[in-house]
Amino acid sequence: MSASRIEEIHNEVSALAQNLPTARELMQAMAKLLHERMLKYNWVGFYMLEPGAQPPMLVLGAFEGAMTPHTRIPLNQGICGAAASSGQTVVVDDVSKDPRYLACSLETRSEIVVPVFVHGKVVGELDIDSHFPAAFTPDHQNFVQHCARLVGKKLETAGH
Ligand code: SME
Repeated sequence: MSASRIEEIHNEVSALAQNLPTARELMQAMAKLLHERMLKYNWVGFYMLEPGAQPPMLVLGAFEGAMTPHTRIPLNQGICGAAASSGQTVVVDDVSKDPRYLACSLETRSEIVVPVFVHGKVVGELDIDSHFPAAFTPDHQNFVQHCARLVGKKLETAGH
């Protein structure tokens, strides 16, 4: 996928963030857009930290793609737990080689998880799986980080 095509979809995602009033609507529409338009994004979804849960728990929110068995993920499990607990983007080029990986679909080959921040604190994350190995090049990482930032900003300004 060319940089100009990523740029085109980057602009479409930014337009969604401008036009949709709530974070819930933005996350739903963003998951749908990314799943439909990004050829190698085969599962796209948000996990959000459950408010007040002890121990902390990631709960599946808006998503597009096959239903996953992992609807609740503690922070010490999975690529998802690693990204939320470290506050860092995690890219896995070959999920079969990562012992942290929790399988959603047998077809998944690579994955990216990008934390969503509100006022500097992790509140959730954007998780994308691909049926293709090493799908998340640095251009894709920048793009997915942009998407996660838009959701964080919407949560800060408009709430859920
Ligand atoms: N693969 C993730 C679990 C979520 S599903 O992929 C949708 C993980 O290892 O945390």
